[in-house]
Formats: sequence, structure tokens, C-alpha cells
Amino acid sequence: MFVRVQSYNIYSTYTKSNSFVPYYYANRMSTIQLIHTKEELKAILSEIKSAGKSIGFVPTMGALHEGHKALIVRASRENDLVVVSIFVNPAQFNNKEDLALYPRTLDADLELLKTIENGIVFVPDAPAIYPEKTSFKPFDLGILDKVMEGKHRPGHFDGVVHVVHNLFEIVEPTKAYFGQKDFQQLAVIRKMNTHYGFPIEIIACETLREESGLAMSSRNMRLSEQEKKDALILWETLQFVKDYRSKYPPNELIKKAIEYLETGNLHLEYLDIVDVESLEMVENWNSPCVCCIAAYCGKVRLIDNLLL
Ligand code: PAF
Repeated sequence: MFVRVQSYNIYSTYTKSNSFVPYYYANRMSTIQLIHTKEELKAILSEIKSAGKSIGFVPTMGALHEGHKALIVRASRENDLVVVSIFVNPAQFNNKEDLALYPRTLDADLELLKTIENGIVFVPDAPAIYPEKTSFKPFDLGILDKVMEGKHRPGHFDGVVHVVHNLFEIVEPTKAYFGQKDFQQLAVIRKMNTHYGFPIEIIACETLREESGLAMSSRNMRLSEQEKKDALILWETLQFVKDYRSKYPPNELIKKAIEYLETGNLHLEYLDIVDVESLEMVENWNSPCVCCIAAYCGKVRLIDNLLL
């Protein structure tokens, strides 16, 4: 099925990638294609792969914003084809209300992607992602699942690992792109990619921020104008931590940063300074580390982080 979001001169597509002419451009129009079944997706991808072309993959849960778009544009530039999946994954929500309130905005998502010339948007249903017959075997994520998000959202990363594993099996991309805003998720994905032996290059992309400093997130759609202002304390606290890094050891700085954050209107869940690789709490500044925060802004749970 074709969804002609917008048409382009096909020659711009030739110029861009020189040799890339997948069969769905046969109508001599560059479009983003919407696909719902994995059978249809696999049929297209197998043609692309047998022609030796590269596939970039950006898994999402929809409610796309400029942060997602930056990932997708990068994947589109670095590969012959980019596949964007949109699937709100129930298995990674440990809170039913959060799942019910997660924004679903497919029309707006497609509109945002209309300028992607070499893209497929894959919007599967749950049985396609979680078939009854499956080769998936969960594994122990160790400390990655015990700290920060893992501690406060039990089962969350099991759900992320399961869905990304199944999506990787369907798409078999050359490269997969993830935002650094979900810093811990990125560490989990790297570990699972190695564990299952996927030959996929994991690409970390910088967090995109509003001019105000607020990290772009699908959850921001649920914030009122006042809450968007209140949420800025997250970014200010991260900068506070960076500014005072040379003055205090990590454990003292954490206390001061918490005091700073609590001058605002957010309800803090955690604020940790951890090693970028092991995600263990650090006792000194000898290794590269990252400050990660999760806090509620009204009913909306926000996360952010900054490399120190
Ligand atoms: O980061 C997300 O949006 C999700 O956790 C992901 C990676 C798409 C898995 O559902």
C-alpha cells in the first residue's frame, strides 16, 4: 500500500543517493511508504538487502518530534533506506495510566516525515511484534536493570529488550539509531545487541533541546505552558552539576543538586551521577560520568541527563 504523503521529483532522489532506486519508487515519485504487516516489510527489505543496500532503523513509539526527526534524517543520510517503526509497546509500561495517556498521533507523525525521501514507516499491531511462536529468550541485564530507571520502573527494560529484539529480527538493519536522552536505554540496547549477536551498529544521537533547554520528548505534549516552565529546572540542575563538578566530590554534589532541584515544582524520583559504561555510582571524577535525573512535572514523568 502506498501513502503518498507528498510527491517529489524522482531525480532529486537519484542525485541524493546516486544509485538508490527501491521498487516502491517505481511510480516515479518519492514518497514515504506506510506499511502495517511484517510480511510486506520483509518482502521490500529483502530486495533492498539483496541489492547490497544499507538499512538504517529508528524504532519509536510515535508522537514524533524534532528530536526523532533528527535521528531519522541522520539515518536517512547515512543509509540507502530508513525504516521508522511506530509501536507503543505495552510491555515496557509498568504504569497502566502512563500507557493509556501515551500520545498517539499517526497523522502528525507522517506529516513530520513527509520530507524523508528514502523512508518506510512501519506501524505493526501487537500480534506482529509478539507472535505466539518466538525465539526470544530473556537474559539478565545485571546492574543495568537495577539502577535509576530499572529501580523505579520494574520490568521496563525487559519490555524494551523484548520489543527491540523482535524489531531487530524483523528489520535486520545495518545501523540502528537511538537518542542519548534515554541514556540507560542506550546502554541496555548495546548490551542486548552484543548478547544476541546482532550484526547491527548502534548509533547514539545527541539530545535535541528546545531553545529553553527543555529536552525534546513525546511526553512534553502532555505538559501545560506552566509545566513547561517548571520543567526547565531539570536542565538548570544538570548545568548546576556541571558547573560545580570541580568543587565537590560526586556524593556531595548529588545532595547539593537535589537541594537545587527541590527549589522548583518538580517531584524528584532520582538524581544520580554514574559511570557512563557500567552505570555504577561514582565515588570520584576519575572516569567519564553522566548525571541522570527523573522527576514528575505534575503527572508527567520526565527524564534528562548530561555527560560530565
Ligand atoms: O525509546 C523509545 O521510544 C522506546 O523505548 C523504543 C526504543 C522505541 C522501544 O519501544
